[in-house]
Amino acid sequence: MDNEVKIKDEILKFPKDFLFGTATASFQVEKQDPERSTDWDTFINDHPEKGIIKDGEIGPDWYKITNAKNDIKSVTTLSINSFRISIEWARVYPSEGNINEDAILYYRKLVDYIQSLHLTPVLTIQHFTIPDWIAKEGGWSNGKILGWYEEYTKTLLKFFPDVKIWITINEPNLLIQLGYFAGLFPPNRHNPIAALLARRNMLKANKIAYELIKTKDKDNLSGIAHSVRWYRPEKADVIGEKLYTRLVDWFDSTNYIEASNKYADFIGANFYTGYYLDLNPRKIKMKMRTDADIVPDTFLFGQTKKPDAYVTEMGWPIVPDFFFSFLKNIWGSYHKPILITENGLADKDDKYRAFYVLTHLVAVWKAMSTGVNIPGYMYWSALDNLEWLFGFSKNFGLIDVDPRTEKRTLRKSAHLYEEIAKSKEINVEMLIKKYIPKDQEAAARKVIQEILTATDHTPRLHYTKD
Ligand code: BGC
Repeated sequence: MDNEVKIKDEILKFPKDFLFGTATASFQVEKQDPERSTDWDTFINDHPEKGIIKDGEIGPDWYKITNAKNDIKSVTTLSINSFRISIEWARVYPSEGNINEDAILYYRKLVDYIQSLHLTPVLTIQHFTIPDWIAKEGGWSNGKILGWYEEYTKTLLKFFPDVKIWITINEPNLLIQLGYFAGLFPPNRHNPIAALLARRNMLKANKIAYELIKTKDKDNLSGIAHSVRWYRPEKADVIGEKLYTRLVDWFDSTNYIEASNKYADFIGANFYTGYYLDLNPRKIKMKMRTDADIVPDTFLFGQTKKPDAYVTEMGWPIVPDFFFSFLKNIWGSYHKPILITENGLADKDDKYRAFYVLTHLVAVWKAMSTGVNIPGYMYWSALDNLEWLFGFSKNFGLIDVDPRTEKRTLRKSAHLYEEIAKSKEINVEMLIKKYIPKDQEAAARKVIQEILTATDHTPRLHYTKD
């Protein structure tokens, strides 16, 4: 093959100012306590039968600042240069109009500490949870939330004037799907009208925050972190399948990217997985798989997993080649920087993490080498934390955390990330030999080869004028 890349010789270089980071969210790392009253606390407490938090489980307990500092310090040894955290709205505003200064002080100390380690902070204003007193008023489907969100954002800008990169809302698309259609996340609704209202309000909230953030300092950067899966038609030459695939992307995520495009400096992408879509009637799965009330991983008509892909503990196929397609396509449509705000996997025993991080970073590099503007990559997550409906049973961390004893152990794959972040380059063959388990080496080479030689022809459904 003419275009065959000799992986042996490949050293893929990243720009010196590329952000290599990692991410957390307040609710997932802070222990439950009576002073924090979010919709998720109420949901967990009202549904002991779901067993989300098991007896004796505490988790990383980050509201105790020494814990947070120790963990941040420990990932800093990995030579990363940025850290994404979120602020808990319910702590800052425990009731309407009342700011809790202790909470502000806590988050201020956290940001100060991040900066003192020369890490660029990335601050998320709202990551899934809202104060319970707002949820009781109807949450995102009530337009009154916009005034409260505006006040909260102004408060954050007042106390964090030195933060330059802001995420206004984390994954509005997923929250709408799981909270307002599937009824799995609070507010546990199955109501398309409420969903549409909530969607509209979340997009309006983004606009409000964007304008406030830019007025504060025009050099500030603001964006939404979207949940992005990527789909490919099983039969690339069948028009109907191609169209169906792009429509699914549209409903799943790209309509949110499109609708917020005017009020965003970058597209935040939380990418984990992707699927093939096959309209062959015999393969169509009509049933939504909601075993034990958990998030369904296959529920679309004809959704199939890439046959040779490894699968994570969430049941999500590892498809770095789809990640490359996603990056190319979104760049092709919007020509706007894509900040990877989350990418990672649940993998307690660290079986596939090195494979995952290496191959996804190759996809990032390849996309950049073809002109896609990607300012940074945040691994999800810095440490094991509360994975929403799954509690502490799914472990995404670079640091393994025992949810009961709180004992921390850095996972081996974290050192692969360290080598890349430190040298700002991927020495493909060296890293494969050093970190990839023997039985995964061939698969790693194959997928890296595929990515490095790929030209993406996934059809786009919509284009912006440029
Ligand atoms: C969310 C995180 C979550 C991760 C893994 C994203 O949807 O932003 O809070 O832990 O995915 O499921």
